[in-house]
Amino acid sequence: MYNPIDLLNGEKMVESIIEMTDVVKKYGDKAAINGLTMAVRKGELFGFLGPNGAGKTTTIRVISTLTDFSEGTVKVAGIDIKKDPRNAKDHMGVIQQAISLDKDLTIRENMMHHAMMHKVPADERKKRIQELSDFIGLDEYLDRMVDSLSGGWKKKAAIVCALVHKPDILFLDEPTVGLDVKARRLLWDLIKKLNEEGTTIFLTSHYIEEIELLCDRVGIIDLGKLIALGTPQELCNKVGSTAVEYRENEETKYKYFTDRDQAKDFVSVLDDHDQIVIRNTNLEDCFVELTGKSVGGR
Ligand SMILES: Nc1ncnc2c1ncn2[C@@H]1O[C@H](COP(=O)(O)OP(=O)(O)OP(=O)(O)O)[C@@H](O)[C@H]1O
Ligand SMILES: [Mg+2]
Repeated sequence: MYNPIDLLNGEKMVESIIEMTDVVKKYGDKAAINGLTMAVRKGELFGFLGPNGAGKTTTIRVISTLTDFSEGTVKVAGIDIKKDPRNAKDHMGVIQQAISLDKDLTIRENMMHHAMMHKVPADERKKRIQELSDFIGLDEYLDRMVDSLSGGWKKKAAIVCALVHKPDILFLDEPTVGLDVKARRLLWDLIKKLNEEGTTIFLTSHYIEEIELLCDRVGIIDLGKLIALGTPQELCNKVGSTAVEYRENEETKYKYFTDRDQAKDFVSVLDDHDQIVIRNTNLEDCFVELTGKSVGGR
């Protein structure tokens, strides 16, 4: 469970940019988010993991005011999103799981539309679009229709659209699904670059290595509740720093230990020494141990 003390970094208070307290979001009788309390720190690259249906997309939709919620409070940049949704919205950009660009417009027209919706002053719109296009290398695509772009470029175009109003926080819901390896790496670079320039990133993914590689801290959600929060290393240490993989009854089994000596003691009494691997624990081990599910599965 998230503990407010987590906001204390030594003597210094770490500033939160998103604060959720006891949030409940129901669809009919079913709670998609069930008492979620957590904070995202200003400037961090925050990863959000969970099995299918855990509540990741719903959490993003709640925070970014795309959907209402019944209980609890959400503050973004200190603004209560129920009391002042318009002001809160200006701090956020969202790349949804399904790309939400208007297919009947060019990329430039989409960006202009987004700038107008977010009340970017008229004399700044063109300049901002050009800056973003330069930043991401989108120039040759700006005047093309959305549908004529490949999946990777559509994703990038969706990102620049969400950045037109200079949000402090960017939500990316499974941004690399369906991208080839090169496009995925380019997107990782872009995410890192945006983060280095000060944008707080809230990222979901089923590619656990992506979260492990990019994120400062990771939250794991299951059945609408936060079940773990920490740096990738802290989460790995929750299950033990050393993993032993071995075969038993034609199944691969995993056991976790706090150090290598304990792991070696365990291995020394196993029958079949051929198929035994001793390695460092990774975030996937932690995810499976804590949720009891494989990544992305139920
Ligand atoms: N519009 C909706 N109407 C009814 N139920 C919904 C709706 N959206 C989500 N849910 C339910 O809320 C729960 C959480 O869904 P959500 O989409 O937030 O999960 P997720 O963690 O993003 O999953 P995935 O990894 O598959 O994207 C699920 O049980 C889902 O069926
Ligand atoms: Mg989702």
